Amino acid sequence: MTARILDGNALSQIVRADLAEKAAALKATQNIVPCLAVILVGEDPASAVYVRNKVAACEKAGFRSIKESYPPNVEPIVVLGKIAALNADPSVHGILVQLPLPRQFDAAAVLEAISPEKDVDGFHAENVGALMQGNPRFVPCTPCGVMKMLASENVPLKGAEAVIVGRSNIVGKPMAMLLLAESCTVTICHSRTRDLAFHTRRADILVAAVGQPKMITGDMIKPGATVIDVGINRTPEGKLCGDVDFESAKEVAGLITPVPGGVGPMTITMLLANTLEAAERTLG
Ligand code: GUN
Repeated sequence: MTARILDGNALSQIVRADLAEKAAALKATQNIVPCLAVILVGEDPASAVYVRNKVAACEKAGFRSIKESYPPNVEPIVVLGKIAALNADPSVHGILVQLPLPRQFDAAAVLEAISPEKDVDGFHAENVGALMQGNPRFVPCTPCGVMKMLASENVPLKGAEAVIVGRSNIVGKPMAMLLLAESCTVTICHSRTRDLAFHTRRADILVAAVGQPKMITGDMIKPGATVIDVGINRTPEGKLCGDVDFESAKEVAGLITPVPGGVGPMTITMLLANTLEAAERTLG
């Protein structure tokens, strides 16, 4: 069997066209242009690419964007001062601090400094708590994008066995909350899980979010399962690859996301969706 490919680029194009239309309508009727501020600290090449893509996606959808870059040795107080200014600026609707931050930063304190109403990443404790309580405001972009992808293919969720590999605050934990809210039976696996394959082989929906190139192989997948690959890694030859060994996995899975062109574009799409929502919320 060869799995069907869940094309994140194609779905992104459809959703982004809709967001661009809504942004144009907001401008025409309310004179509000959705605006995202992105803060990049340091010289991590992957972060620089992600930020560039986020800014470019804003421009393309008719959103305004502000990019603030700081050297790796910047004092945290400088960045916190910028966040305070952006919080106070009514023309800015979303604020995002690209992670990871250099060592001198207390990342949690930085995320808490962002106004929860502008926290389009959904990382502020208030937004994390709201998601946990089943009353979400801003949902972290990657898991939100995964849910959109599952919905686009009508993947059955109620009572499904969902196994997430990875327990990060950015993907694993919020992913678990979203799947649980849709009545999946959710298992979170991590680096200390005993017999990972035992769990992954039970999964109707398998989400890999660990940052280990090709660690999920075909023999770890239930035939016909939906496999969502959140990983973005590089092979020793410099090629992009996911956490899933696509070649062996596609022979077993029923539906699978590629890397690149799977979850990645949907993450940015949901960032645009959250920014538009933040802008619309300013109308009350
Ligand atoms: N670093 C890796 N993923 C993300 C993300 O979704 N948001 C931010 N701010 N930083 C990240």
